[in-house]
Amino acid sequence: MSDRDLAVSLVRAYGFRQGAELGVWRGARAWALLEQTGLDGLLLVDPWEERFNRFPAVGTPDRMPAGLYDCTMGEPHQDQAALEVMAKAVERRAAEYGTRCRVLRMTALDAASLSADGSLDVVIWDAVHLYQLCRDDLLAWKPKLRAGGMLCGDGYESAGVRQAVDEVLGREKWVQGGFWGTILP
Ligand SMILES: C[S@@+](CC[C@H](N)C(=O)[O-])C[C@H]1O[C@@H](n2cnc3c(N)ncnc32)[C@H](O)[C@@H]1O
Repeated sequence: MSDRDLAVSLVRAYGFRQGAELGVWRGARAWALLEQTGLDGLLLVDPWEERFNRFPAVGTPDRMPAGLYDCTMGEPHQDQAALEVMAKAVERRAAEYGTRCRVLRMTALDAASLSADGSLDVVIWDAVHLYQLCRDDLLAWKPKLRAGGMLCGDGYESAGVRQAVDEVLGREKWVQGGFWGTILP
């Protein structure tokens, strides 16, 4: 099962209503969530800025040239003009879902303060797959979840994400392929 299908299955199984996806790209998972689950509200958080997608990285990003973080999602590199087109396309499609979907064009860290603590059922993280940024995002968004909510995301196969997830989630987590998650007590 793909990470996208797994996220959809979990949201359906738990009957989650309010969620956020951190790191959206073209919205492939977001549209699947909106089409295939009963989510009443989905926040889509992504700055769509080239400087956050390709930069000299501290540490070794897995599956990328040493010293360079470069998020392309298997596509050619997207420059800022291409990211503007991508962001506009996501905003247009999100508008079709009316109040069910809201786009926050900013970093996950900046967007965290816009959601009340305990207000979300599920947070799906898929932003920059590096230790410090992942850790900061998870620490900022974990309090946004209610008790019984789910913090989950992609990238467990990357050393930095693995370290951040292990630190923030502790032992009470599951991992399937690169997809990880936990249900908060
Ligand atoms: C791995 S892709 C997301 C893929 C998407 N979830 C999907 O299923 O198709 C990573 C995304 O994170 C975004 N991003 C980069 N820095 C970010 C940040 N600080 N906060 C949130 N998103 C960020 C990038 O613009 C990019 O679209």
